[in-house]
Amino acid sequence: MFNIFHRKKENNQLFYNTDVHCHILPGVDHGSQDVEQSIEMLRAERDMGITRVILTSHVTAETFENTPDTLRPAFEILKQAVAETEDISHMQLYLSAEYRMDEFWDKQYTLGNQIAMPGNYILMENSFHQELLGLDELLFDLKVKGYKPILAHPERYIYYAQRKQRLEQLHNTGTKFQVNLLSLAGYFGQHCRETALWLVKHGMVDMLGSDMHGMEHVKVIQDYINSKEWRKLVPQIQGHIINDLVRD
Ligand SMILES: [Fe+2]
Repeated sequence: MFNIFHRKKENNQLFYNTDVHCHILPGVDHGSQDVEQSIEMLRAERDMGITRVILTSHVTAETFENTPDTLRPAFEILKQAVAETEDISHMQLYLSAEYRMDEFWDKQYTLGNQIAMPGNYILMENSFHQELLGLDELLFDLKVKGYKPILAHPERYIYYAQRKQRLEQLHNTGTKFQVNLLSLAGYFGQHCRETALWLVKHGMVDMLGSDMHGMEHVKVIQDYINSKEWRKLVPQIQGHIINDLVRD
């Protein structure tokens, strides 16, 4: 019998097509562990309206000391698998990374071992304990060399929560800000969500990212983009987001 209370399951899509931050590249960090998981995550991206995925695996001292030599082979394997998987073969993948600004970065940057996104954007991650000493110099040097630095999830560094003027300063000097959908969804707690909303309110969100490491994150993001909160937020950010401008 037709049930008048039955509601069609909503499946909202994002208003942009490029995910600039995710850990879908298999076997190189604590994101996807194998090609099957990566395919599952890419299908989830597709269902949310994403067609272009920038693969930003961790590059961190001691834990994930990835270089082009470790990332490129994984990228070739995934690209091949995606080309052979009909329902996602249309998706475009790009290799880049999420670079923690630490001693490993210093060493690799000197050697020219970084892989930027199309358009020379590069995703930089701060330490979670304290702001890197010399952050301004590092960002300035990147800009001088023609890179466009993006600060990964500024809302997640707890030391900025009480120092919002520092965020303004970083943004005003030309560093792009990428906010996590997971942060807006409240996944990292209320402080982080509040800072993310503060960034939205002040027009400082340049890019959104899933930062998905696995299907548990997918579920949180899907629920969030089907929520009233997200729908209310969209008009405030839609005009600012440059995700789809990450191209050559
Ligand atoms: Fe990440």
